Amino acid sequence: MVFSLSSNIYFSPMGYISDKSVQQIYDTAKVEDVVGDFVHLKRRGINYIGLCPFHHEKTPSFNVSPVKGIFKCFGCSEGGDAVQFVMKMEQCSYPEALRWVANKYNIELEEIAPSTEQMEKQQAADSLYIVNGFAQEYFTSQLFDTDYGRSVGLQYFKERGLREETIRRFGLGYSNGINSDLVQTALTKGYELPLMQKAGLASTAGKDFFRQRVMFPIHNLSGKVLGFGGRTLSSDKKTPKYLNTPESEIYHKSKILYGISQAKKAIITENMCYMVEGYMDVITLSQAGIENVVASSGTSLTVGQIQLVKRFSPNITILYDGDAAGIKAALRGLELVLEQDMNVKVALIPDGEDPDSYLQKVGITAFKQFLEAESADFILFKTRLLLKDAKNDPIKRAELVKELVETISHIPDALKRAVYVKDCSVLMEIGEQILHTEINKRISAQLKKEHAAGERKEGPTEGELPPPTEEGYSVQVEERQAAQSTGHEFMEKDIARILIQFGHKELSETETVAEFILLNMADLIDEFDSELYAKVVEIYLEYLTEGKKTSPELFIQHQDPKISKLAVNLLSTPYEYSHNWEKLNVYLSSQKMPDENHEADTKSGILRFKLKKVERIMERNQQEIKLLQGKSVDLEELMTLLKVQNKLIQLRGEIAIKSNTVVLK
Ligand code: CTP
Ligand code: MN
Repeated sequence: MVFSLSSNIYFSPMGYISDKSVQQIYDTAKVEDVVGDFVHLKRRGINYIGLCPFHHEKTPSFNVSPVKGIFKCFGCSEGGDAVQFVMKMEQCSYPEALRWVANKYNIELEEIAPSTEQMEKQQAADSLYIVNGFAQEYFTSQLFDTDYGRSVGLQYFKERGLREETIRRFGLGYSNGINSDLVQTALTKGYELPLMQKAGLASTAGKDFFRQRVMFPIHNLSGKVLGFGGRTLSSDKKTPKYLNTPESEIYHKSKILYGISQAKKAIITENMCYMVEGYMDVITLSQAGIENVVASSGTSLTVGQIQLVKRFSPNITILYDGDAAGIKAALRGLELVLEQDMNVKVALIPDGEDPDSYLQKVGITAFKQFLEAESADFILFKTRLLLKDAKNDPIKRAELVKELVETISHIPDALKRAVYVKDCSVLMEIGEQILHTEINKRISAQLKKEHAAGERKEGPTEGELPPPTEEGYSVQVEERQAAQSTGHEFMEKDIARILIQFGHKELSETETVAEFILLNMADLIDEFDSELYAKVVEIYLEYLTEGKKTSPELFIQHQDPKISKLAVNLLSTPYEYSHNWEKLNVYLSSQKMPDENHEADTKSGILRFKLKKVERIMERNQQEIKLLQGKSVDLEELMTLLKVQNKLIQLRGEIAIKSNTVVLK
């Protein structure tokens, strides 16, 4: 869900929403009202709490702050403003969420006509959706309302155990197509042949593309029809069993997950998604009450498909056939899922069955028991699979360990890797340290490869560990811990927090908090260790240079998700800094909480930041002095350094007095 705030105009088939209307929506929307439509909220102090709608929980950790205009879950760390809440809840785009909120508050939207080029592009996509929607309704009416549809198509679905409500829920249909029925009907309704050809509904010769097949419409996230799968009813080996819509402007096979539109709610509430291979697997499981299921539709799983699931849950269970092809696909799939930093389990369906036929055969109770018993994490899965014939063969055992090590090395999260190393160590009776060493080797090899390929990795986001370095992961972790323990990151974070929270407030008649801070650290900007916090400062500088009116909301709504997440986190954790204030001995008990006292907060924040940085510059300077003293001396340079050091000591003293901090050194 990428959107840009640089231009506050949002397009939809109806047009753009004007800046003024967007502002009106934000001014009117009350986060507690909007969230309250979905979550039962209870008042707690100046905030509200409730059960988080984005993850399973029994005790509420979901907070809504009317004052700040944001929600934040301390359990799953989802957070944002009212419009972002609607986007997450309804899984819709930014303009759709704006319209949702506008509708709730009866705000009349000012619409601006889009440019011709944008209009044409949108219309092209729209007309494909529209003609596909028409075809879907046509196929469904053929299934239910014609003799041949009922006796052939409907009969077939019933034999396969589908109930009418299921058939309607998935929009199934039948295409006779002998006399190009669809194309003929569509033409009389005003759809033009080239459009139907573009949508893959008509052949180049102008005939129906799908003939005498039962039809499975394929929907996008928001339920629009992108294309179809058509299954033949003939047992002729020469006819392909399934025929799918060819790639089109809206149908991209590698990004489609069959059933995602029907499954998304259940994937969120179950916090897990079953991945199967076929259309019928999805429908049969869903009909039996396992609704958190989607299909990769026979293609091998793609990164695009996995990321689609990731928007709803980090957990995937791969449910493939237990034959050789299924095993191969499962192994490939699990590596891919792990690489996306998601959790994966695998269960293989036995006896040459697929999920659909196995469920029909054993019934839902036994099927659920099977899932419970067979779903194994990948270590167990691979070990079970490969240990069978490797048990007493040391060479084969070593091969298996290599396999496992290779897989673990693809997991981006170090903590998760450590857990799997433990499991692997126990199962394979090999020391953890050896496994770690092997894994680190592989990670650095992978990184070298990536480096050579010129891939640029982005910096870590707030709260995440940084990506591994060539020296291996542990080095980076240590560095980071060192940075934290010397307090640089903490001070920088505090500056970012003050800017976001109070930057717009007035400190004196002539100066805002942000102006005061930015003026005061003009020479220290390069001293930031954290890219993220430095970016907040840069963004603020930009806002000020452009003469923009600033506010915490600008950061909450920022187009860079790292910044908007940081803003929500900083605005919703007041205890974190007050606690540290006390530790730093500058928090006077007579002072008000920083929330209410931005002046003291700002001044001591900047002083502490400066102190920290000046001390570091002093250390650096001291090092240089030491180096020079050891050598045949360049007296002039040494004198300069000593002078600088004296100045710094003086500066530190001044800052320390101002900030009431006791200097211990
Ligand atoms: N598939 C396809 N084209 C084919 C064969 C298969 O697109 N020629 C896709 C379909 O999405 C199908 C999935 O791969 O659902 C799995 O294929 P298969 O196991 O052969 O079919 P089933 O789903 O088991 O279909 P059915 O139960 O109707 O036989
Ligand atoms: Mn099948």
